[in-house]
Amino acid sequence: MEMDELSALENEVRERAAGVATQSERDALHAEFLGRKGGRLSKLIAGLGKLPKEQRAEFGRRANDAKLAIESALAQAQERIDDAQLESVLARTYDVTFPPLPPRTGSLHVLRQTLEVVVDFFRGRGFAIVTGPEVETEFYNFEALNIPPDHPAREAMDTFYLPGGSLLRAHTSPMQMRTMQQYSPPIAVLVPGKAYRRDATDARHAFMFHQIEGLQIDRGVTFGHLKGFASDLCRRLFGRSRRTRFRPSYFPFTEPSAEVDVSCGVCDGAGCRTCGGSGWLEMGGAGMVHPNVLRTAGYDAEEFTGWAWGLGLERIALVRHGIDDIRLFTENDPGFLEQFA
Ligand code: PHE
Repeated sequence: MEMDELSALENEVRERAAGVATQSERDALHAEFLGRKGGRLSKLIAGLGKLPKEQRAEFGRRANDAKLAIESALAQAQERIDDAQLESVLARTYDVTFPPLPPRTGSLHVLRQTLEVVVDFFRGRGFAIVTGPEVETEFYNFEALNIPPDHPAREAMDTFYLPGGSLLRAHTSPMQMRTMQQYSPPIAVLVPGKAYRRDATDARHAFMFHQIEGLQIDRGVTFGHLKGFASDLCRRLFGRSRRTRFRPSYFPFTEPSAEVDVSCGVCDGAGCRTCGGSGWLEMGGAGMVHPNVLRTAGYDAEEFTGWAWGLGLERIALVRHGIDDIRLFTENDPGFLEQFA
């Protein structure tokens, strides 16, 4: 009697497993027949104790066979489900004629493009292009530039100091002394690079920005050379109609000192929102190299004179392209950058 029930169970599973089409159907079947508690096979086996002693061993063997048969029927069902699923993935069709998205090609960053115009200008006039360290000493950032320890100009620079007494250079001017120490006059160099200041970030200020230091030292170099280079460069950068202006200023390492301004391209000097009403846009500081700086370098300050300037690269790019926020240069938004590609 019980043996017959085992056979019936086995047959039922085989039949029903053949009709299983989904994972949940297969799992339900597994639970119904092989579930540890309440599974129909387990229930039959639980009745083992009621059998006459001599039938028990035989029943045990048959029950085990039935279990293997059920497991194999369920395994076949599982295989069919897996195959069908793979089939459906492989059968997915793609439209190979659909046009792809256009590839995004990179381009030179707008700051780099601007720098190359300046570099090109000075290379054509015989200047050497050099770079220097961003981690500097107090000597090169200050002392060598005629800025003693208690000088108020140190405060104005809002410098990042590093452990151990070094600092992040607050301008590219430290390269004036480094260049003078390395070469004897005459010299003519252009030094592009990063500078750092503890400024709060806004549309006009950043804690990291770029300067382009220019330095020319020779016999007979005058303020006129500085003005000539500055006004020629401004016309090259911004167009023939732009004018340059030198506004008296102060730097400890130049005498006389000036701010170089270019006429506003929007209002041509009349005053508008872009130039804050002044009619002019600031490009950077400049002046004639202070005799103390020449002497520190070991140059004869009676024989040699020179000019130096530190132009702001971001400033130039802002004015050239009518950009109103320097944060755009470092945000790396492709939509912004692609306008200059
Ligand atoms: N280093 C000055 C600054 O960062 C600019 C400057 C450079 C002025 C060279 C004069 C000569 O403000």
